Amino acid sequence: MAMNKSHAPAAQKGVLGMLIDDHREAQRLFKEFKSAKDPARQEEIVRHACTALTAHTKIEEEHFYPFLRDADADAFGSLLDEATVEHASAKDLIAQLEAMKPADDLYEAHFTVLGEYTNHHIKEEEDELFPKVIDKAIDLRGLEKPMEDTRREAMSAKASA
Ligand SMILES: [Fe+2]
Ligand SMILES: [Fe+2]
Repeated sequence: MAMNKSHAPAAQKGVLGMLIDDHREAQRLFKEFKSAKDPARQEEIVRHACTALTAHTKIEEEHFYPFLRDADADAFGSLLDEATVEHASAKDLIAQLEAMKPADDLYEAHFTVLGEYTNHHIKEEEDELFPKVIDKAIDLRGLEKPMEDTRREAMSAKASA
């Protein structure tokens, strides 16, 4: 149906836009942490960043990455394998941070390294993965809603924890 074709780019814009918004928000938090002097504020930023990054990695791992692998395993397989390993490193640091207090040795170092890993990972997604999705005209219709649902679940699970 020719009419439906026009929805494919809109879906790409919606899905990739949502992920890019998350990336910008994470980068904003890492930057803000650097200028925050008050330990209570720093802790708030770390908590917020950990929750947001946990939701983001979950959204990608449960929906976006498997969808791309199904769509074209040859094109996306190795990029997604690397992305998954990078997520695992980030999740490990997040788990450590969530068990720490701001006064702990290496608290700041953990968050700084998480920021470096995250920036590297974001760059790979935005410079390699997302352009490939656009290049290969992958039809992302139907992904936005389950991604939003997972975000809501992840955020409310955290709020009630
Ligand atoms: Fe991402
Ligand atoms: Fe990712």
